[in-house]
Amino acid sequence: MRKIGVLTSGGDAPGMNAAVRAVVRCGIDAGLEVYGISRGYEGLIDGEINRMGYRDVSDILHRGGTILKTARSERFKTEAGQRKAMTMLETFGIEGLVVIGGDGSLKGGRDLSRMGMKVMGLPGTIDNDLGYTDFTIGFDTAVSTVLDAISKLRDTSSAHERTTVIEVMGRNCGDIALFSGLAGGAQAIFIPEIDSDINEVCKKIVISANDGRRHSIVIRAEGYHMTSQEIVDAIATKTGRETKLVVLSYLQRGGSPTMHDRILGTRTAAKAVELLKEDSTSKAIGIVDNTIVAYDLEEALNQKRELNMDIHNLIETLGK
Ligand code: ADP
Ligand code: F6P
Repeated sequence: MRKIGVLTSGGDAPGMNAAVRAVVRCGIDAGLEVYGISRGYEGLIDGEINRMGYRDVSDILHRGGTILKTARSERFKTEAGQRKAMTMLETFGIEGLVVIGGDGSLKGGRDLSRMGMKVMGLPGTIDNDLGYTDFTIGFDTAVSTVLDAISKLRDTSSAHERTTVIEVMGRNCGDIALFSGLAGGAQAIFIPEIDSDINEVCKKIVISANDGRRHSIVIRAEGYHMTSQEIVDAIATKTGRETKLVVLSYLQRGGSPTMHDRILGTRTAAKAVELLKEDSTSKAIGIVDNTIVAYDLEEALNQKRELNMDIHNLIETLGK
């Protein structure tokens, strides 16, 4: 192994830069040539590939986004697109590829691996929706951003004795809602994995308000089957309380990564380089029980994510 490439793909996530920095610097330290591929699989197909030096990744550890830029590539989903991507890697003599992205990006990496490329997948997404790892790069920062918003909204919600419904990201996975719900003291959460009873939530809001609770924070993950507006309307009608909607949207994707995401990005990237240097087969790298792990890429992607019901139950218990 002499030359490796690195790309970021799918939704950006804070901590991706920390991972790119570590791939470049650990790679150079291991005697490898490292190539940065811009705009994910789109840039790979178009040959947007540049050699990277140690100083090219200076001053990015603390920044959100990704210096390599990212993309969702429809072209890459086709066989012709994937063949072009492989040809491009061969043209540049790249023998190992580090893919930093979510479920879709890692599936793309798996396809390249089936075509003969050595691929190391790093879990880069705020969604925390990958089954093989306890946490993904960017999740901790996104939850911290949501918590900051909850604190502020709780102040004004208390002052006006209102209910505030906060919409967070997560189309298929409710982890952002789940973790920010427990850490932020939400009364209820609505997540795609569970069908919640809106009438029960409304009863709880009324009972707690009569008991002196002034604020009421409800969190809905974007993938829940009722829309945020439907939830707001139902709560307002059934509780008689003024109810406001706040959609946090892309705010959750930006910002300086937390310690946790910088360390996770850096350690998983260092592991990826170590494995490529050893000429390992393709792997998905993550963290389980606070230990960096590397699983067979195909098997890792088949692992189903389990919802943490303990956390869900605690929100129920504490939000009365
Ligand atoms: P994420 O990686 O954050 O889940 P996407 O699902 O948008 O984001 O995936 C990013 C890119 O990875 C897609 O634009 C596409 O090029 C590629 N990709 C997604 N799903 C697949 C798949 N099932 N097979 C191959 N490539 C895929
Ligand atoms: O996968 C990360 C994510 O932020 C999801 O939580 C969200 O549904 C989606 O990306 C938004 O994607 P886009 O940037 O394409 O609007």
